[in-house]
Amino acid sequence: MKKHIFTLPGDGVGPEVMAGAIEVLKKIAKKYNHEFTFEEGLIGGAAYDVHGTPLDDKTLDRAKNSDAILLGAVGGPAWDNVDKTLRPEQGLLKIRKELGLFSNLRPIKVFDKLIPASPLKEAIVGGTDILFVRELTGGLYFGKPSERKDGGNSVVDTLQYTREEIERIVEYGFEAATLRGNKLTSVDKANVLESSRMWREIVDAKSVDYPDVEVEHALVDSTAMKLITDPGHFDVVVTENLFGDILSDEASVITGSIGLLPSASLNSSGFGLYEPVHGSAPDIAGENKVNPLAMILSAAMMLKYTFHLTDESEAIEQSVDAALKSGFHTADLDIEGGKTVSTEEMVEVVINNIK
Ligand code: NAD
Ligand code: IPM
Ligand code: MN
Repeated sequence: MKKHIFTLPGDGVGPEVMAGAIEVLKKIAKKYNHEFTFEEGLIGGAAYDVHGTPLDDKTLDRAKNSDAILLGAVGGPAWDNVDKTLRPEQGLLKIRKELGLFSNLRPIKVFDKLIPASPLKEAIVGGTDILFVRELTGGLYFGKPSERKDGGNSVVDTLQYTREEIERIVEYGFEAATLRGNKLTSVDKANVLESSRMWREIVDAKSVDYPDVEVEHALVDSTAMKLITDPGHFDVVVTENLFGDILSDEASVITGSIGLLPSASLNSSGFGLYEPVHGSAPDIAGENKVNPLAMILSAAMMLKYTFHLTDESEAIEQSVDAALKSGFHTADLDIEGGKTVSTEEMVEVVINNIK
């Protein structure tokens, strides 16, 4: 199979984790006889520094013309004071919106070897397997107006969703549940927000089409608690943009590190951008100690969701599992008797485990 992959390493640790994922994909291509070509572009602060904008139209076009996109991370203190419309994060929001990547999948899976690395009790953590389905192109992130008023003494952000935007993500949640444990938790704040009440109505209406899926509505505040006290309760969680952002970082604690969580952002035809859940980690950038596994597992999701290369995707997941089982891990994880290695060494162990 021939595939053209557009890479956007971005800022901070982005280039370090991207380099690892590309090496792993090259090994997979060799083993399974595929031809993967890689083309690199600029996004975030790296793009702002060169082009004066965090994502220019030429880069967006190149991304659109690829078979799939890999993204490292954007942002960092160097760009904290640039014009709000030119912040690195705006480049990420723009590519998500322009490519219609409304469905953000964030799997939360626990590797057995890493159970002791979580600050939570082993009995709580073991067996956790949750799929977050986060709405990615609407809600507070994209509402207008979003501005200061009254000479800077008043501020407004707008939470807006159309029926269609909610319907398509809720449907994705139901479909995902049918492929897993047939259980869907829809998370909202319907005791306060009108948008959440409309969200609930849409979930109830859709549930008629999925009689085998057990549906529950849950409020976001108590869900934040339950994720930590009883993560085994959840199968598929569907929620709006901001709630999904916050809950998925929280859920990373169950797995031991945010450096383990991959994600897929898909449009309605299965085209996707694949990126770790974590950010640019400026506190450790350039030190060869960032955990590359979230990026590597994002590449595995690309193989599965956009290229339908299931064996190849599983080969990566298994090699990550084997690498961890043999005790290797980066500094963000603390396992007794384990061996702390650098980013580059971790990538090498994963590659050597792809047999
Ligand atoms: P962050 O995820 O970058 O870092 C939070 C903490 O987790 C830090 O201590 C960091 O060192 C650690 N960490 C994150 N990923 C790690 C990894 N792979 N291995 C080891 N440790 C890891 O979040 P933040 O510090 O709140 O944000 C930093 C910048 O990243 C901000 O500019 C933010 O806007 C941006 N950000 C970008 C994305 C993205 O590009 N998708 C996501 C989140 C945050
Ligand atoms: C994420 C990030 C982004 C988000 C930021 C950088 C815009 O936190 O991908 O989770 O909030 O969606
Ligand atoms: Mn986030």
